[in-house]
Amino acid sequence: MKRTTYAGLIDDSFLGQTVTLSGWVQKRRDFGDLIFVDLRDREGIVQLTFNATNASALAVAEDMRNEYVVAITGLVVSRDASQLNEKIRSGSVEIDVTEAKILATSKTPPFYIEDGVNANEELKLQYRYLDLRRPEMQKNLRIRSKIMSSAIHFMDNHDFINIETPILAKSTPEGARDYLVPSRIFPGSFYALPQSPQLFKQLLMGAGFDRYFQIARAFRDEDLRGDRQPEFTQMDVETSFMSADEIRELVNEWVKAMMHDVVDFELDTSKIPTLTWQESMARFGTDKPDLRIAYELKDLTTIMASSEFGVFANAVKAGGVVKAIAVPGGAEHYSRKNIDKLAQYIERFGAKGLAWLKVTDDGLTGPIAKFFPEEAANKLIAAADAQSGDLLLFGAGRADVVAATLDYLRRQTAEDLDLVNSENPWAFAWIVDWPLFEYSEDFDRWIAAHHPFTMPNEEDLHYLDDGEDPHQAHAQSYDLVLNGYELGSGSIRIHRMDIQEKMLKALGFTPEAAHEAFGFLLEGMNYGFPPMGGIALGLDRLAMLLAGQENIREVIAFPKNSRATEPMTEAPTRVGQKQLNDLGLFVPEEK
Ligand code: AMO
Ligand code: AMP
Repeated sequence: MKRTTYAGLIDDSFLGQTVTLSGWVQKRRDFGDLIFVDLRDREGIVQLTFNATNASALAVAEDMRNEYVVAITGLVVSRDASQLNEKIRSGSVEIDVTEAKILATSKTPPFYIEDGVNANEELKLQYRYLDLRRPEMQKNLRIRSKIMSSAIHFMDNHDFINIETPILAKSTPEGARDYLVPSRIFPGSFYALPQSPQLFKQLLMGAGFDRYFQIARAFRDEDLRGDRQPEFTQMDVETSFMSADEIRELVNEWVKAMMHDVVDFELDTSKIPTLTWQESMARFGTDKPDLRIAYELKDLTTIMASSEFGVFANAVKAGGVVKAIAVPGGAEHYSRKNIDKLAQYIERFGAKGLAWLKVTDDGLTGPIAKFFPEEAANKLIAAADAQSGDLLLFGAGRADVVAATLDYLRRQTAEDLDLVNSENPWAFAWIVDWPLFEYSEDFDRWIAAHHPFTMPNEEDLHYLDDGEDPHQAHAQSYDLVLNGYELGSGSIRIHRMDIQEKMLKALGFTPEAAHEAFGFLLEGMNYGFPPMGGIALGLDRLAMLLAGQENIREVIAFPKNSRATEPMTEAPTRVGQKQLNDLGLFVPEEK
């Protein structure tokens, strides 16, 4: 019985044809001498009918159970008018089965295989091959596949050369923690899995390839979140002799092509805004703003310096800021209890409280309204750009705490009130002119904001000279943001050794440490490296967004859970003593 088409493709254009199908039993309904079976394959579902006219097929259907693999041959006929199902492509037809065969039986699955089924995620990951049978997961992985094909097609048409770079690489201090692989031949030495192909792609520019592209796996031992996995995939690009503007223009065209190919959306790239990092932080409190939300952070620091409300005046006196968002319709929507819940949540950002006011036709209401007599109230309403019906939420204190707090509140309130504008479903933005360094609380020192190979702005190069403050410098780097997610990140690179050495010095490397970590790159720069720049887009994040998912795991076939383990294979696992001996490793007994 050789399959003639997919079950999910059957529709009324097949009426009167005899077809042979193979797939899984989604559901069986037994009425004695009439049995209905929903047959599922990767394209969808079609209804099979078995009846006494074909007694041998009916007998086979009696043995069928959920998730059995079956093959059938039958005639495509119209469904009874009362049986039409508009939700599926095959909903007006069914297959009158003449021959049937069971190809494999199945145990009762641990969860029902259907979208929206309420099963424990750990269990679903343990039986991932069953979870992946769901139509939604099939769709998600096909979107991912389409993105890859589209990207390769675009890059090929634009003369990019697809080059693979090593997975067993050298540990270089790039930012995150490395995954290490012990060497058998050199006990005590380790390869590191690449955090990105960054150094190799720069060396490929040094080698004269001019345009490089790779769909590259990257590995980072970081704390996981909904949009992060320990191994993930980058669509990685590097070019020579192009300016930052030209690279962004190229990426615009690339993204436009992907949006067309994958979700059939015509992106107008001329409408993609470019914001400086400073502007993005000021207006949205984040470097990855969700531009589908209309309201922004308003700076009230100046007018609150002399406020009667001590919390605000004191924050300004202490060198902090006072900012607010005006949430449209928030006055009615939020009860005191709901606001308390928001206040509790923002403690994690270091917020000391959540001051709020409601704007009504009769002025301001709320517990701190008494501190805002008419004139102060009017000033505030004007500066916050607030309307009657708005809820004003305030942050006062350290600029970074206020930014993180109001960024969160802006996104959360927009979700609560359904204020994420669906007229602009794909809100891309470029964020440019980043600081070259950022202060890391974790490491308690300055680190490279992007990575140590990022070129400072020409006019800021002098900040790297002795006696100047390097942390003033801004960088020729750029992020592509989509709907509040960092989709990609790139920069113009340092291609001259003198600048690279200064940069590493500013990062606290001694010349010896710099040569130990990146000597091969620094040496290469002695041999004529071209000006270069590039970017990497996160494939998993793009697939997640285009598939309308909120977790990156939904677009990865075999993802890790939040504890970086893979519940199906149970990786990571302990290994035998022989393997450890071969590698010269000593591992303490399991406690
Ligand atoms: P960056 O570190 O910003 O840049 O990574 C590029 C893009 O990769 C995605 N990404 C991730 N996706 C899933 N899980 C993760 N843990 C994860 N980390 C990053 C993001 C991000 O924008 N070499 C530079 C690029 C360059 O300069 O060309 C780099 O790796 O979407
Ligand atoms: P208090 O005078 O401390 O009782 O605070 C009065 C109101 O201001 C309460 O609603 C607090 O949640 C709020 N509040 C206190 N500190 C801050 C702050 N740093 N930023 C914003 N609101 C605050």
